[in-house]
Amino acid sequence: MIERTLSIIKPDGVKKGLIGEVIKRFENKNLKISAMKMLHMTQEQSKGFYAVHRERPFFESLTEFMSSGPIVVMILEGENAIKMNREIMGATNFKEAAEGTIRRDFATDIEKNIVHGSDAPETAAFEIGYFFNRFEIVGHSL
Ligand code: CMP
Repeated sequence: MIERTLSIIKPDGVKKGLIGEVIKRFENKNLKISAMKMLHMTQEQSKGFYAVHRERPFFESLTEFMSSGPIVVMILEGENAIKMNREIMGATNFKEAAEGTIRRDFATDIEKNIVHGSDAPETAAFEIGYFFNRFEIVGHSL
C-alpha cells in the first residue's frame, strides 16, 4: 500500500551536516519526497508536535532540544512508507538500532537521535497536518 509519513531531520542532524546523507538513504529505498521545508520551531510549537509525550519525564528536555536549531521536515511517500522509514531510521535508542541504520551510524544519545518518523497511520496524518497544508504536498503516486 502506498502511504505517506512525516520525517524530521532533527537539530543534531542538521548541525552535523547530514541532510544530504539522510535524504540519500530515503531515495535509495524508493521513498519519494512529497513536501519539504526547513524551519526553526519555538518550544511551544515543539510541545504541540510532541503532545502525545507530554506526561513523559523527557518532555521538557525533548521539546527544548527540538527547538534548539533548524530542522528539516519532509513528507515521504512510497510502498509501506511508515514502516520503511522506521527501518531506515533504526530503533529510538541508537544502542539498539540495527547496523546500517541512520541512528546506529550517527546518533549519540537517545534524545539526540538525528531523525524522527511517524509510528502509525494516525500519527502520520496528525504530523503531516501539523507542518503542511494540501497545497504544499505533491503526489507521486497518491
Ligand atoms: P522520536 O522518534 O522523535 O520520538 C520521541 C522522542 O523522544 C524520541 O525520538 C527521542 O528523541 C526522545 N526521547 C528522549 N528520551 C527518550 C526515552 N527515554 N525513550 C524514548 N524517547 C526518548
